[in-house]
Amino acid sequence: MRTYIAGTGSYTPDKILNNAYFEKIVDTSDEWIRTRSGIQERRIATDEQATSDLAFIAAQRALKSAGIKAKNLSAIIVGTATPDMPFPSTGCLLQKRLGAPPIMAFDISAGCTGFLYALGIGENFVMNGYENVLVIGADTLTRITDYTDRTTCVLFGDAAGAVVLKRGDSKSAILASHFASDGSSWELLHQPAGGSRMPASHETVDKRLHVIKMQGNEVFKLAVRAMCEAAAITLKKAKVSASQLKLLIPHQANIRIIEASAKRLHLPMDRVLVNIDRYGNTSTGTIPVALDEAVRTGRIDKGDLVLMVAFGAGFTWGGVLFRY
Ligand code: ACO
Repeated sequence: MRTYIAGTGSYTPDKILNNAYFEKIVDTSDEWIRTRSGIQERRIATDEQATSDLAFIAAQRALKSAGIKAKNLSAIIVGTATPDMPFPSTGCLLQKRLGAPPIMAFDISAGCTGFLYALGIGENFVMNGYENVLVIGADTLTRITDYTDRTTCVLFGDAAGAVVLKRGDSKSAILASHFASDGSSWELLHQPAGGSRMPASHETVDKRLHVIKMQGNEVFKLAVRAMCEAAAITLKKAKVSASQLKLLIPHQANIRIIEASAKRLHLPMDRVLVNIDRYGNTSTGTIPVALDEAVRTGRIDKGDLVLMVAFGAGFTWGGVLFRY
């Protein structure tokens, strides 16, 4: 018996911000954003929408696609760096809103790798007897974006994606995974204030410390190395070569990171899912949104091998290989 992905769903907000918008608010250009990051537009949550609102719609769609009712779920795991509030968890808010029984529900924090970490945890629960585990990646990074900082504000968008995990003995299965972290360079990507180290105060707000601080070019180098390592180790565990992959679904942080990773894996770009041009970096949302897109647009069929790789704040990274 193995764990398989029984259904997928996603949600991206309707409101679109294109690159021209950023030309008006910071010293940047459409050309710089497109060539340096690959982003053309991104989706932004409305003032009324919090992370759980995005996650709720994605979860409903994943449940529908899996043919499962919320009352039959046995766990809800949400990867997010931008929960509605520090507590209670987004998972608990969704337990109530979806109408699930009083099951285990919680959030995990692993930066942009949060969805894959949650998937790994969910797989373990399924293999230990839990039925129908809902795994979500949802973030509203634009709520912690500094719109006066041109080095970060052009990069981020909001999105949520979800999958339902089940146990079965068909060919569809999660075949291998690899997860890692290294906290030694955490300062390169972090949100300084709002936690116990630096609680919210007038001073932290005045100094703009509740927003994403990132040294992008340093993070870039680590990201390529880590995503390739995650891919290589995950493939090796399953004795699968990159050439057997139907599709690589990488975290969408920068088109140049994606292209460099694909090149090192000797994968042509037509076997790599890229949607960063339309959504930007949506943190834990990127991979489940891309996976749902791959399913809905027919880019993957039953039996295909798919590798997902991510890298994010922490730093964290990981890979999950599955047969669809
Ligand atoms: N418009 C115009 N110029 C800009 C902009 C902008 N929006 N942003 C930066 N620049 C300038 C810089 O100021 C710098 O100017 P200088 O040479 O005069 O000092 C120049 O462009 C080059 O800056 P770099 O930071 O070296 O640019 P780079 O090519 O590295 O691109 C980017 C920056 C897009 C941020 C890239 O480094 C990147 O994508 N990094 C990785 C992001 C990532 O993977 N994050 C992890 C996951 S995200 C998460 O977990 C939330």
